[in-house]
Amino acid sequence: MPATQAMYRRRFLQFLAASPLFAGSALAEGPLPGTRLSDPLMWAPFRAEALIKSPKEAINVFDFEPVCRANVPPAHFGYMASGIDDEVTLRANREGFAKFQLRPRRLVDVSKVDMSTEILGVKYDSPIVIAPVGGQQSFHEEGEVAVARAARQGNHLQILSTVTNIGVEEVIAARGAPLWYQLYASNKWDVAKAMVMRAEKAGCLAVAVTVDRSGGRNQETLFRLRSTDTRECSGCHERGSGLAATLTRRAMYQGIDVSGLTNTQSSAMTWDFLKRLRDTTKMKIVLKGILAHEDAVLAADAGMDAIIVSNHGGRSEDSGRSTIDALPEIVEAVRGRMPILVDSGFRRGSDIVKALAMGASAVCVGRPYIWGLGAFGQAGVERVLELMRIELYGAMQQVGAPSIKHLVPAMVRRA
Ligand SMILES: Cc1cc2nc3c(=O)[nH]c(=O)nc-3n(C[C@H](O)[C@H](O)[C@H](O)COP(=O)(O)O)c2cc1C
Repeated sequence: MPATQAMYRRRFLQFLAASPLFAGSALAEGPLPGTRLSDPLMWAPFRAEALIKSPKEAINVFDFEPVCRANVPPAHFGYMASGIDDEVTLRANREGFAKFQLRPRRLVDVSKVDMSTEILGVKYDSPIVIAPVGGQQSFHEEGEVAVARAARQGNHLQILSTVTNIGVEEVIAARGAPLWYQLYASNKWDVAKAMVMRAEKAGCLAVAVTVDRSGGRNQETLFRLRSTDTRECSGCHERGSGLAATLTRRAMYQGIDVSGLTNTQSSAMTWDFLKRLRDTTKMKIVLKGILAHEDAVLAADAGMDAIIVSNHGGRSEDSGRSTIDALPEIVEAVRGRMPILVDSGFRRGSDIVKALAMGASAVCVGRPYIWGLGAFGQAGVERVLELMRIELYGAMQQVGAPSIKHLVPAMVRRA
C-alpha cells in the first residue's frame, strides 16, 4: 500500500479503535452525523488484500501494486519498491504534493481537453512520459517490449534504461517510434561511447544522462525482502554474481569490453564528460537528476537540451526533499532557456497538473507502470497509463485548462 494511503488508513483505524462512537455494530454503519474526523476518509470499502483480477477493474494506479507484489519474486519487488536508509525522500515525494493547492478557474469551456504536448520538437498525446527503469524482465518476461507496446498504444515518450534487458533496436521496433536512451556513464568512457553510438544508430532522439547515482546506497527494503526470497536464482543471477555477471543479462553491454568497469554508475563524472559527449553524438542531451537551481543554470549554460528534475524516485539519496518542492526554484532560475521535465512520486492527474502549472513541460512516471507490468504485463501497463491520462484529463477540466498551455503558475500556490 502506498505510504500516504497507509498512513491515512492507520490513523483511521486508530481513530475508530479509540472512539466510543464506533462500539459494536455502529462500526458497520459509519460515524454518527456531525462527527468530526481528523483525516480524509474513504467510505467505500478499501481492502488492499482484495486484489483486482483484471486491469479493467483498477480504479487507480495503486490497485496494481499489491497484484505486482503477489506475482513478482520478493527480491524483485523489493528492488522496485525500495528507497534508501529511512526512505524519507521516498515518502516526501508523495507528501510534497499536499503542500501545494490548485486554484481552479471557472466558466472556461473545457468540454474538450487537448493534452497533446511537444517535447524536444516531437508531439505526443500527453505529457506523461515513461521513466527509465532497469531490468524490466524482472517483472514480466516481455519486459521493455511490453512497455513499448503500451507506450505505442497511448503515444507516450518512452525512455529506455542503460540496464534494459532487451536491446534498443527491438524496443524501438515495438514502440514504432524513436525513444530516448538513458545513460549510466560508468567509469569507462569507451563503454559509454559505444552505448551512445548504438542508441543513436538505432534512432534514439536524445540521451538522458543520469547524474544522480554518484554514491552507494543502502536499500533496506530490498535487503529485507530479498532475505525472504527462497527461490533458486542462479538461472538468472550467476553465482557469486559480480558486476560482470549482472551485465551478461543487460542487452546494451553485449559486445562491449567491460573489463575495468567498477560500476555502472559514475561517481567521478563532471561537466567535462558532457562536453565530450556533445562532441560524440548528434542526439539531444538531457540531464536526469537535477535538484538544485545552481545546477539547472549550469546545465543551461552548458547548452543542455533539457533537464529532468528527479531524485530517482527516492532511490539515490535520503535528503528528504521532494521534487515538487525543488521544482519552483528551478523553473525560476532557468527562465525558459530549456524544457524542464520532472519525476518522482507522480501518481495522480492532479500531481501532474501541479507540476505543469508550475512550469514543467512533462512528467515522467516510474513505479506505477512497473506495478502494471508485474501485475498483468502489457495490458497492465496500458491500463496504468490510461488511468493517468483519464485523471489528467479530469484534473485539467477541474482547473479550467482546455490545453496544456492553459496550465499557468497562477493555478497553483503553496498551501
Ligand atoms: C525499479 C527501478 C529501476 C530504475 N532504474 C533506473 C535506471 O536504470 N536509470 C535511471 O535513470 N533511473 C532509474 N530509475 C528511476 C526512474 O527513472 C525514475 O526517476 C523514478 O522511478 C521516478 O519515481 P517514481 O518511481 O516514484 O515514479 C529506476 C526506478 C525504479 C523504481
